[in-house]
Amino acid sequence: MKSLLITCRTGFESECAQELTEYFSNRGAHGFARLQRDSGFLVFESADGNPLPPVQASELIFPRQCLAIGEHFSELDTKDRISPILEWLGRHINSLSDIWTEAPDSPAGEALNAFCRSFESALVARLKRDKWITPAAPKRLLLFFPSGTECFLCLVDNGRTPPLRQGIPRLRFPSDAPSRSTLKLEEAFLVLLTETEREKWLQPGFTAVDLGAAPGGWTYQLVRRSIKVSAVDNGPMAQNLMDSGLVQHFRDDGFRFQPKKNVEWMVCDMVEKPARVAERMATWLREGWCKRTIFNLKLPMKKRWQETQSCLAALREQAGRDLDIRARQLYHDREEITVYAGPLSRR
Ligand SMILES: C[S@@+](CC[C@H](N)C(=O)[O-])C[C@H]1O[C@@H](n2cnc3c(N)ncnc32)[C@H](O)[C@@H]1O
Repeated sequence: MKSLLITCRTGFESECAQELTEYFSNRGAHGFARLQRDSGFLVFESADGNPLPPVQASELIFPRQCLAIGEHFSELDTKDRISPILEWLGRHINSLSDIWTEAPDSPAGEALNAFCRSFESALVARLKRDKWITPAAPKRLLLFFPSGTECFLCLVDNGRTPPLRQGIPRLRFPSDAPSRSTLKLEEAFLVLLTETEREKWLQPGFTAVDLGAAPGGWTYQLVRRSIKVSAVDNGPMAQNLMDSGLVQHFRDDGFRFQPKKNVEWMVCDMVEKPARVAERMATWLREGWCKRTIFNLKLPMKKRWQETQSCLAALREQAGRDLDIRARQLYHDREEITVYAGPLSRR
């Protein structure tokens, strides 16, 4: 694997590049990025021609997908885009489990979505006719179109977990949730915890504190799992949550609030300087007020990678014990990342 296609939230291409440079350099490999700001993707290449060690997006914060590039077609003929792709496939592989055609998650990419859908149908029909598609085949074809004439061809291993188109979990907004932020915590549970962890750690009857809770989108996710919540915010909480009998509302400062009894979870979505949030999260973990936490770090406009690193390092240092820290920029995050921190555990 000498070059990788990386997709991300638009505007975070250079954070991806910095994170990958450091990731590979820590593993004795060196690479560089080719990127265009706000494109929603970048290409990361080996600097010395040696293969880059394997990497999964789930190990990193900013990338949504890390895909080994099999071929790059820079100037496809709009009258016949299929032939060069079929010719390449014929030389390299003899069966595929599926075919996905994607565009960047960016304004330019959105304009290509209709094209991607029709190109995918045409290619699937053609490859089915030629008996190329076998559900048991170990690899899937992913064609990524930054424009109508440029295409990155990637062969993707079918792992144990089902892959997500564009690396994006499509979640349905629950109609009785009080804010769209609810999807952030739902996605965090899905992406940052394993299925077994969700079952073990989100049990009915557990207790939680939600700092910066109003109007209650995050509290909603806890209440729907029958977890009792102390919701801390000067703003009002949604009435349907208060009526659940599971929520106690404290009109307090989230940076001063302390629970009377230690809780299983503390979640925090307060809009504040990330360093201040990280320090407060470390205090909760150090004091044992919560066992686990999920919180957002709102990133500054500049030096976002440096800020991310320094906040996570401060969390580690100030918590006073080894922590399992998992951080991702979720699809439902904007200029922020979401972090899980808890006791060290085997995944
Ligand atoms: C992004 S909103 C939270 C949205 C909420 N998680 C939801 O899903 O509905 C941020 C909230 O943090 C609260 N907040 C900010 N600073 C706070 C503080 N020092 N103490 C308590 N709440 C605070 C604000 O009042 C606001 O309601």
